Amino acid sequence: QDGGQYLLHLHKTPQLNPVIEPLSWMLGTWLSDPPGDGTFPTMKPFQYLEEVHISHVGQPMLNFSFNAFHPDTRKPMHRECGFIRIKPDTNKVAFISAQNTGLVEVEEGEVNGQELSIASHSVARISFAKKPHVEQITRKFRLNSDGKLEQTVCMGTTTQPMTQHLHITYKKV
Ligand code: HEM
Repeated sequence: QDGGQYLLHLHKTPQLNPVIEPLSWMLGTWLSDPPGDGTFPTMKPFQYLEEVHISHVGQPMLNFSFNAFHPDTRKPMHRECGFIRIKPDTNKVAFISAQNTGLVEVEEGEVNGQELSIASHSVARISFAKKPHVEQITRKFRLNSDGKLEQTVCMGTTTQPMTQHLHITYKKV
């Protein structure tokens, strides 16, 4: 095969690597439905739209991007992208994310059926990241019986204990 403009397209559609089969329920393009709910003791509750792409290229990992938008103006807001890995022959999962706020984080946890629960293992940030700094993060992803993907994020900062920051459900598009 030749003439492909993109290297990935020089390959045939990749087969799912069997290592990531336990996470295959996360694959796809997802759009918030309804808009997500943002909360935290220090802020007024807010809503947001989010578009999620979770894909693979045949490697034993998922690639993801989460892109949030303002519900009225559609202005881009929080963005993050990274990889989800699974320790072969276990249900142990690592989630690696770079965020547009200057945060880079690693979370680890477990996949059980169609539910992934992870907690921050390490957090790093740029020297001029906005305060207060996040110290701890937990996330739960779940595929619901109606086929919707759900994400809940809690965080603890230098000023607040662990509290829910985000809750959102997505439909597959
Ligand atoms: C505020 C962290 C995802 C929207 C904050 C704050 C932190 C934070 C530390 C400041 C809290 C305070 O002032 O007490 C995070 C982390 C995220 C995340 C670690 C992902 C794991 C999102 C997403 C949205 C969002 C997806 C959707 C739009 C906001 C808004 C505020 C905020 C609107 C308040 C205004 C501001 O400080 O910019 N977030 N956030 N966040 N976050 Fe997030």
